[in-house]
Amino acid sequence: MSATLYRARALDVPDGPLGGAVLRSDEDLALLVRDGVIEARGGWAEVSRLPASREAATVDLRDGVLLPGFVDTHVHFPQVRVIGGLGKPLLDWLQTCALPEEARMIDRGYAHEVAADLLSGLASSGTTSALVFGAHDADAVDVLFTAAEASGLRITAGLVTGDRLLREELHTDPETAFRQGLDLASRWHGRGRLRYAVTPRFSLAASDAMLASSRALLDAVEGSLFTTHINENGHEIAAVAELFPGSRDYLDTYERHGLVTPRSVLAHNVHPTTAELARLAATGASVAHCPTSNASLGSGLFPMREHVEAGVRVALGSDVGGGSGFCLLKEMLQAYFAQQLLGPAGLPLSPADLLHLATTAGAQALGLDQVGHLGEGMAFDAVLIRPPVGSTLDTVLRHAEDALDALAKIIVLGTPADIASVWVGGQVVNGCTPTPFTPKVPLTTSP
Ligand code: GUN
Ligand code: ZN
Repeated sequence: MSATLYRARALDVPDGPLGGAVLRSDEDLALLVRDGVIEARGGWAEVSRLPASREAATVDLRDGVLLPGFVDTHVHFPQVRVIGGLGKPLLDWLQTCALPEEARMIDRGYAHEVAADLLSGLASSGTTSALVFGAHDADAVDVLFTAAEASGLRITAGLVTGDRLLREELHTDPETAFRQGLDLASRWHGRGRLRYAVTPRFSLAASDAMLASSRALLDAVEGSLFTTHINENGHEIAAVAELFPGSRDYLDTYERHGLVTPRSVLAHNVHPTTAELARLAATGASVAHCPTSNASLGSGLFPMREHVEAGVRVALGSDVGGGSGFCLLKEMLQAYFAQQLLGPAGLPLSPADLLHLATTAGAQALGLDQVGHLGEGMAFDAVLIRPPVGSTLDTVLRHAEDALDALAKIIVLGTPADIASVWVGGQVVNGCTPTPFTPKVPLTTSP
C-alpha cells in the first residue's frame, strides 16, 4: 500500500498526570503513515532515509503546527441549533431551549440536516472522535449513524432514553428502549469507526426500570459504552435525591444498576461528594468536564483538583448546545479559566495539561487506544493549525518563546478559522487538503 511521509512541527501529550503533563514537541518531525497508521516516527533526517520512506509521497506541513485530533467526550446531536441559549439554569434551559428542539428530531429530514450540521461542526473544529448524545427518536439516531459513517469521524452514539419528567413525546418505556437500542446497535456498533453507547438521559428522567433496561442493553452489546449526566446543578441533585430515597447519592442511582464501569462516561460532576469521587476512582469511570456549559448554565466551577487527587479520570466535552460551540480549543481555555477562578482550591492547568485533556485523556475515557497522540502505532488522527497570515494568532505564534508558549497561544486565540486541515485514519475529513508548503522564512541561507 502507498504511504505518506508527513513533515511537521508537532506537539502532543502522550502522558498525564493532569497537573503535571509533559509536552512532547518536535521542530522537524517525520511521520510515515501507511493505511492510516503511523508506521514510523522520528526526526526528518533519520526517518526520511528509511527504505520504507523512499516510495512515500511527501507532504510538508511546516507552515503550521500539527496536533493530535481532538476528542469530545460529551456533545448532543439534537442541540446544534440551540447553541447560544444564554441566561437560564439547567432545568429551565432544558424545558425552554433543548427539549422543544429535541422533539423536532421526529422529522427524518430535519434530523438529517442537523446531523450534517453536527458532523461538519465537529470536523471543522478539529474534533476527530466524539461520544455523542443521540436523540430520543430511534429513526433520528439511525440518521445520525448513517451520516457519521459517511463523515469518516470516530463516532460513538446511542438512543437517548427517559420515561418521566421530559416532554410527553420524548418518553419511552424500558422494553421499547431495550428493543430499539439493540436494533440500532446490531446495525451500527463496531461498523467502521462507529460504536454504540447506552444513553439514559439522567436519573431525573429515568426510573429504576429504565436504568435496569440500560444495564441489560449494556450486557447485550459487547464493547458498548455507557453515558449519562450527573451532579450538574443543585436543583437537579435535590430532585434526584427525592426520586431515589433509598440511594446514598446521585452516583448510587447508576451504581445500583451496575452502570458505573471503566466504560462509563458521566458528564459534568460539578458537585460531587467525597464518597462519590472515591467510588468513581475505584470503578475507573470517567468524567466529561464541560467548562463552557458549566459557565453558561451557571452550574458551577468544576472541582478538578478533587477529581485528580481522588484518582478520577477526567476528559473534556463541548456539551453543545449547553456549551458554546464545538471547538475544544475554547473548552481548554475555559477549563483553565475555571481553575483560575477557584483560586487556591483550583488546579493550575498548564498548556500541556489542557492539550492532554482534549486528546489522550479523551481517547482513554472512550477506550480508543489507537488515538490521542502521534506516537508510532497510533492512527493518524491529526489537526493542522495554520492561522491566516496577519491574524493575531499568526503574529503571536511567530513570536512564541518556545513550544509551550506556542501551545498557550493556540489555546488562547485559536478558533476553527485557524484549522487548515483535519485527518482521521490518514484521510482528510474537513474537506481541506493542505495547500503546498510556502516557507515563511528561508529554510536555507545562501552562501
Ligand atoms: N442533563 C440532562 N440533559 C441534559 C442536557 O441536555 N444538557 C445538560 N447540560 N445537562 C443535561
Ligand atoms: Zn449534556
